Amino acid sequence: HGELRGVVALDGPSGTGKSSAARRLAAALGARYLDTGAMYRAVTLAVLRAGVDLADAAKVADVAAAALVVQGTDPDRSTTVLDGADVGAEIRGPEVTLAVSPVSAVPAVRELLVAEQRRIIARALDEAGGIVVEGRDIGTAVVPDAPLKVYLTADAEARAQRRAKQDSASGRESTLDATLADVQRRDAYDSSRAVSPLRAADDAVVLDTTSLDLPGTLAALLDLVDDHGLLA
Ligand code: DC
Repeated sequence: HGELRGVVALDGPSGTGKSSAARRLAAALGARYLDTGAMYRAVTLAVLRAGVDLADAAKVADVAAAALVVQGTDPDRSTTVLDGADVGAEIRGPEVTLAVSPVSAVPAVRELLVAEQRRIIARALDEAGGIVVEGRDIGTAVVPDAPLKVYLTADAEARAQRRAKQDSASGRESTLDATLADVQRRDAYDSSRAVSPLRAADDAVVLDTTSLDLPGTLAALLDLVDDHGLLA
């Protein structure tokens, strides 16, 4: 395929196949991969462990400032370390998933993590030349000058089905109804927050994955990368 040069910003709601596609894209192009959602999840885990009221933005911000989150950028092994311990499994659990939207809506939390994300991206560009960054606000706020921004969408039902599959693959029980409700609740929350809400950048390419499987999504992304002249 060649090697990726520059940043690919991949945004969209959960269940669009974003994470799998981003990881595969980075691996296929010899690039780094940054999962920004994992960073918000790790800070959320710190907040839950501290027993802080989620509605107390000042306290949430204090915990976020004290937490040491180290997010790896290897697409074959994306790791999340909180205060020295690997929390990759724990941050996917239902407690964190339920609390992550309010925590990530706190402006001070976003400021901290966006600054860290920009440092990670700069380092990755230095070392590897290219990085695929996935999240909600990558094209609109974290890297507004990214040479390729893709916004993934899919019908809510399709997204709930993917999410339910992931849950059962990782041994968590869930029903489709509950998962659909969770997906819709989180979309509504993430899209309506005041700071950097979930939305497509004006210059993003919108890719609907409702009827695409992972290889199909990956192929579409590879075409876009090539079309944008980002292959060396
Ligand atoms: O991608 P994910 O499901 O792991 O993300 C978890 C939450 O983190 C998501 O509901 C909103 C928040 N998030 C965010 O606000 N900004 C990002 N760039 C990434 C995630």
